[in-house]
Amino acid sequence: MGIGETAADRWVLRRANGAQDVPLESMKSQMGPDVVDMRHLYQQAGVFSYDPGFANTASCQSAITYIDGEEGLLLHRGYPIEQLCEKASFTDVAWLLSHGELPDARQKARFEQGLMAEAHLHEQIRNFFNGFRRDSHPMAMLCGTLAGLSSFYGNQEADQRHRITPEEREMSTLRLVAKMPTLAAWVYRYSRGLPLIYPRPGLSYAENCLHMLFSMPEAPWQVNPVLARAFDRILILHADHGQNVSTSTVRTVGSTGVNPFACIAAGVAALWGPAHGGANEAVLDMLDEIGTVDGIPAFMERVRNREDGTRLMGFGHRVYKKLDPRAGLMRRICHEVLAELGMDHDPRLELALRLEETALNDEYFISRRLYPNVDFYSGIILRAMGIPSSMFTVFFAVARTAGWVAQWKEMLESRPGISRPRALYVGQTRRDVPSSYGAEN
Ligand code: ACO
Repeated sequence: MGIGETAADRWVLRRANGAQDVPLESMKSQMGPDVVDMRHLYQQAGVFSYDPGFANTASCQSAITYIDGEEGLLLHRGYPIEQLCEKASFTDVAWLLSHGELPDARQKARFEQGLMAEAHLHEQIRNFFNGFRRDSHPMAMLCGTLAGLSSFYGNQEADQRHRITPEEREMSTLRLVAKMPTLAAWVYRYSRGLPLIYPRPGLSYAENCLHMLFSMPEAPWQVNPVLARAFDRILILHADHGQNVSTSTVRTVGSTGVNPFACIAAGVAALWGPAHGGANEAVLDMLDEIGTVDGIPAFMERVRNREDGTRLMGFGHRVYKKLDPRAGLMRRICHEVLAELGMDHDPRLELALRLEETALNDEYFISRRLYPNVDFYSGIILRAMGIPSSMFTVFFAVARTAGWVAQWKEMLESRPGISRPRALYVGQTRRDVPSSYGAEN
């Protein structure tokens, strides 16, 4: 019995009204809980399963990311996130997610060359930006321009055939990972009225992100290896996180066979929501609101009393009930970056550390198993680096593109058929439009 195949365990759906029981089979997982196979439930029993939000439903088989929220474990293709963060670069991790193994020296060199070659955007894309208001939210511009890219990089033949060949998959994966930093940086430059900066050969992926954000034609951004490495690790920490809402969106939209740029634009839209990608911005707002360490007791009181729904932003996670392994790494990066920038006595950091310590020793948080999540520190780091908070989610999207394309590719390779959930219908039964309707309109 192999992984992903029928397991020895058998289940029975017992019906109380004396009708025949429905036998169900389970499927073996490599790690974590097995799943009960519901694919034939309707044919067998004439009912659908009900699981709004799919919180208890495995929507696919995947070999990319494993998360154990109880143990605080995050593995990409089997490798712990801590080891990847220490030993690999973001581009290594992007390759790993898509190809299953870390790249060897030749693959790495070719991949990085390919990323550089594909980092440019078609010149006409500059025109897209002129259609946006300067004060548009950067995610609106990212989402719109990314979908628009499908008209430049779409394969019309593939669209007609409703089939994307393995070569096209590889090319789209490369292009999307390559072009996202340029697009993200241009979104920022446009909103500030700054000249658009092109990717520069010889810089790493993370260095190019910072170069395109901060360089001026007359004053190129000076490479700072500490900041570049920190930024690279932030990208690694956001690269993939299993079947979260944006990834599930990418799989669902991609199951229609749509152009991959349009498909990833759908993922960007899903990420935009404050319940998903926008929490690090909210952490900074919260720190501003608390003001100084003296404001912590009163704020914590408001959280405990749920005054106006106040929550400690950057704490708690839908999956992790132990420390999110990415949060500890992010904390270390935060100290490195602030030390490099001479901001290690930054009052905001002191406030964040005291808040964290207070919460970790507070019965309210202990009893609910609420720990800091990845967003608690990422906002502080990015703002210290000079990246405005409205751009945080944009760079989350740049990083997550590595995961989205890997999941998109895996979905296509498994040939799942189009996604099509059902609903428990609670509306009107059949009725006729009144014969008088429309007569007086
Ligand atoms: N502050 C205060 N109380 C909290 C917090 C928090 N941050 N998070 C959860 N709780 C409380 C809830 O009020 C609830 O209490 P109760 O059982 O007495 O009613 C209990 O802890 C469980 O909360 P749920 O909402 O069921 O937890 P869930 O796992 O559904 O929510 C979520 C997870 C949405 C992330 C939540 O913890 C939260 O709102 N955190 C703050 C926002 C945040 O940091 N989001 C980033 C998530 S990480 C990411 O997206 C990369």
